[in-house]
Amino acid sequence: MISNHHQSVMFEESIDALNLIKDGIYIDATFGRGGHAQGILDRLGDQAQLIAFDQDLSAIEHAKNTFSDARLNLIHAPFSQMHKVIDELGLDGKINGILMDLGVSSPQLDNADRGFSFQAQGPLDMRMNQTAGLSAAQWLAQANEVEIANVIYEFGDEKKSRHIAAKIKKFQLLQPLETTLQLANIVSEVVRGQKNKHPATRTFQAIRIFINQELKQLSETLEQSKQLLATDGRLSIISFHSIEDRIVKRFIQTNSRQKPLPKGLPIFDQAMTKMPFKDLGKIFASKDEVKHNKRSRSAILRVASKN
Ligand SMILES: C[S@@+](CC[C@H](N)C(=O)[O-])C[C@H]1O[C@@H](n2cnc3c(N)ncnc32)[C@H](O)[C@@H]1O
Repeated sequence: MISNHHQSVMFEESIDALNLIKDGIYIDATFGRGGHAQGILDRLGDQAQLIAFDQDLSAIEHAKNTFSDARLNLIHAPFSQMHKVIDELGLDGKINGILMDLGVSSPQLDNADRGFSFQAQGPLDMRMNQTAGLSAAQWLAQANEVEIANVIYEFGDEKKSRHIAAKIKKFQLLQPLETTLQLANIVSEVVRGQKNKHPATRTFQAIRIFINQELKQLSETLEQSKQLLATDGRLSIISFHSIEDRIVKRFIQTNSRQKPLPKGLPIFDQAMTKMPFKDLGKIFASKDEVKHNKRSRSAILRVASKN
């Protein structure tokens, strides 16, 4: 049976962070099953607009069957196409807030045929957008040992990356590597599991990030937000691992902190050095939420406001 349930993480906090204006124009960059989107729509007026992106066709199809709200504009595209889409809608510089709830949804993880889970047998796919690009199995078949090791190290912080890559290539000499459990078993031969953490967690995360170009997508979209947001427009971004959070943190810091002026130079006019954003800080999920929703354990919400 297809699972469609996704419990939104830091629901109130991430929507509050948008500081909603009743008839404002908002973007939900990661629609998923629309939990946050519904929360935003419930708080907005009749003239408001919510433009929602998801690169997963099943998210958009589910939305079309379950949402009927004239204020909602659903876009099946990676969020890195945000600037192009918003430009075409004539809304550049008019967006009052962007919500990003990064990573994969529960339906993506829970439906074994998507290939994201190391706990259920399925094809080794891992593409959020199944209409484009290489599946994890296709990439692992064509990449060499060094390329695989680099991805697992860089995007998974996995110390045994070289050993895992060597095992993958050895396995492929005997038979094609095509399923999630084949990969999980290969990794388990090399990596010891920790309490509450499957040995293949880091490897699956790394390959998923690479296959979906998640970090590149995030960096490009953050850059675009400078132009898209109206004055006082908000960024509300939930990330789930340190590599992702580092990108959001650095972006906000770089674009909100005045750099100290070189000694001996005249003080510039403040207007000349005005930064694009104000850093409004970060928060974690409450103890109560963590108790009820395991996924929220690693969530970090960062908020910034456009100057
Ligand atoms: C954590 S879920 C979002 C859940 C949603 N906030 C809710 O309350 O139901 C992340 C969603 O973002 C989508 N996604 C991730 N990266 C994306 C990208 N670069 N472009 C478009 N959608 C993306 C995934 O397909 C997934 O459906």
